[in-house]
Amino acid sequence: MDERVLDEMKPYFFDTYAVATSEFAYSMGIEAKKKLDEARRRIGSVIGSSGEEIIFTSGSTESSNLAIRGVADALSDEGNHIITSKTEDFPVLNSVKHLEKNGFDATYLDVDEKGFIDTEQLKNSIGEETILVSVQHANQEIGTLQDVKEIGKICEKEDVLFHTDATHTFTRVPFDVNEIRADLVTISGHTIHGPKGIGGLFVRKGTPLEKQLQGGYQERNLRAGVENIPGAIGFAKAAELVTSKENDMLRDMRNRTIDRILNEIPSTTLNGDRKKRVPQNANLTFHRVEGESITLHLDMRGFAVSTGSACFSRSLEASHVIMGISGDHERAHGSVRLTFGRYNEMEEVDMIVEALKEVVGDLRKISPLEEE
Ligand SMILES: Cc1ncc(COP(=O)(O)O)c(C=O)c1O
Repeated sequence: MDERVLDEMKPYFFDTYAVATSEFAYSMGIEAKKKLDEARRRIGSVIGSSGEEIIFTSGSTESSNLAIRGVADALSDEGNHIITSKTEDFPVLNSVKHLEKNGFDATYLDVDEKGFIDTEQLKNSIGEETILVSVQHANQEIGTLQDVKEIGKICEKEDVLFHTDATHTFTRVPFDVNEIRADLVTISGHTIHGPKGIGGLFVRKGTPLEKQLQGGYQERNLRAGVENIPGAIGFAKAAELVTSKENDMLRDMRNRTIDRILNEIPSTTLNGDRKKRVPQNANLTFHRVEGESITLHLDMRGFAVSTGSACFSRSLEASHVIMGISGDHERAHGSVRLTFGRYNEMEEVDMIVEALKEVVGDLRKISPLEEE
């Protein structure tokens, strides 16, 4: 987390510590509610929203659950079909699977070898019963950027709601909710040097949505529970601290990493598209070696990289994303994701590439898949 984020949060733990609903009781509550709504506006302004349409949640997981299950509950009389893609992150996939157990039908769109959905397949999948399309803005493992503008246009024309998980693009790949015509957008704080445990859901005014956490009337009566005011303020600060210069720097580090690995380490494949990917992400397969072994060896040398997406890498199953783009188990097991952030420097790119050359070389010497 960025220390400037913590500095802005601190007073709302210790000085103005009232809960926002105390605005009806005493002045500290009024101040707390004012700051919470200000944080909403600060975050909204990054994506072209007034801020009133931002609902604070505990993170992207909750936001996507609320979006998908909330629309399904609100529109179950109008239709029972939901469309998503095969390579979504688990908050979306598992929300849709949960609905399938409760009588909904789902279509999981295929992706091509770079991870893009086919908008023709999307158009052909929309039917009378379709109420919602949920397709992510960027993929959590391979960073592929979907054409959300085109998807939004199709949804608007077909009169179905459009939700997008923008966890990895929020502030990194600027977008405007009106341009992409999204009704619901998932965002999170921890991916941008903000606090963990705070996220948001953009809910366009008038979008039918039923709350999933029952209790009080907080967050436009869409999410019960005492608001995480320091978290919301930290999230807003984190969003403001991201600059286009920083994103350019991340893009340069990403490009150098990809170029050097592909040129200098044999039998490597880039996962995802060369250009249409988030600036902070590189994902490559090192053939004939296990990604898990690479991450362990790099960890011992002080580098933190992952195989699947960080939040779900406890599972040893092959990545459903690499399987989705390739159908190849060996490729999925040899994939490694490198994510760059504010505190990385270009010289670390060269350091990790040198480390990878040694690690991959050593592992291949003992790999049973390596040819004599
Ligand atoms: C695309 C995507 N969606 C959702 C999540 C879960 O986010 P959170 O931890 O904010 O619930 C993650 C994890 O970073 C993610 O990569």
